[in-house]
Amino acid sequence: MTPIQAPYPATRFRRLRRTAALRDLVAETRLGVSDLIWPIFVTDVPGADVAVPSMPGVSRLTVEGAVRAAEEAARLGIQALCLFPYTDPTTKTEACEEAWNPENLSNRAVRAIKAAVPELAVMTDVALDPYNANGHDGLVRDGIILNDETVEALVRMALAQAEAGADIIGPSDMMDGRIGAMRAGLEAAGHKDVAILSYAAKYASAFYGPFRDAVGASGALKGDKKTYQMNPANRDEALRLVARDLSEGADMVMVKPGLAYLDICAAVKAEFGAPTFAYQVSGEYAMLKGAILNGWVKEEVILESLLAFRRAGCDGILTYFAPDIARILRG
Ligand code: PBG
Repeated sequence: MTPIQAPYPATRFRRLRRTAALRDLVAETRLGVSDLIWPIFVTDVPGADVAVPSMPGVSRLTVEGAVRAAEEAARLGIQALCLFPYTDPTTKTEACEEAWNPENLSNRAVRAIKAAVPELAVMTDVALDPYNANGHDGLVRDGIILNDETVEALVRMALAQAEAGADIIGPSDMMDGRIGAMRAGLEAAGHKDVAILSYAAKYASAFYGPFRDAVGASGALKGDKKTYQMNPANRDEALRLVARDLSEGADMVMVKPGLAYLDICAAVKAEFGAPTFAYQVSGEYAMLKGAILNGWVKEEVILESLLAFRRAGCDGILTYFAPDIARILRG
């Protein structure tokens, strides 16, 4: 319903752009600190708590460092952290047992953070890649990524995370049937209030490169993830995946990567009206941060890139810029 626009000079769009106050008054979308989820990398490998070269400004943190980050998040008004472990290579096996060890790095970090900052929401990643000798998100036999066997392992992993105190479980593995299986497992174990943020539309993307460096999976990964992550050419499939995951018990859904998939974000929000998140992934961070550090673009590109997600209809964004943008938004 586009109203009839009176011709110039009755309509001068520039009138409402004249001052910051007027521009703010008629801003159609806003970005708030509470729209952000901050992904952090944790490690307990001696000497691995160092800067990630392909993600300038991002470091792997010890568990104590992660607790300090959680305290900083709370101070800045960030409502949620998402944890990714850089695991000791000697614990990686083909069967990935470390993934559901109640005392694994990620579960210890969740407990430490929830003890120190209970009001902060903690999200965990459900996928086998940090624990897998071959770097894949699923169990592998004869070069095939096994679906149903992987789902069983993922349920065990999700239960251990819920037990450790995770508020939000984030399955990023792209196996079929995992959401329903996890939901049933959580209910049966008495974790009925643990939320699932499904990586529903996750594309097989080269934008994940720096992340794989950060979690130490780059070297291990044999081949690519194209038999389980989505083809970047597809849009209808994303909507079918979101419908499927919501029907299986996902509370929130995610589109990943972000900027190159804004059309998917907009379509998902318009079609389902469910809480919809975008992941501004490591490669997007690296591109923007690299250009900022080189002086090629201004830091304002961060806010501009995040506003795009809000305009596309996203309720929130996972972004490594979360603490930077929180500081900028708070002036
Ligand atoms: C792994 C996982 C990946 C990311 C989040 N969880 C990488 C992958 O699928 O290979 C990527 C996040 C980023 O690039 O920032 N299950």
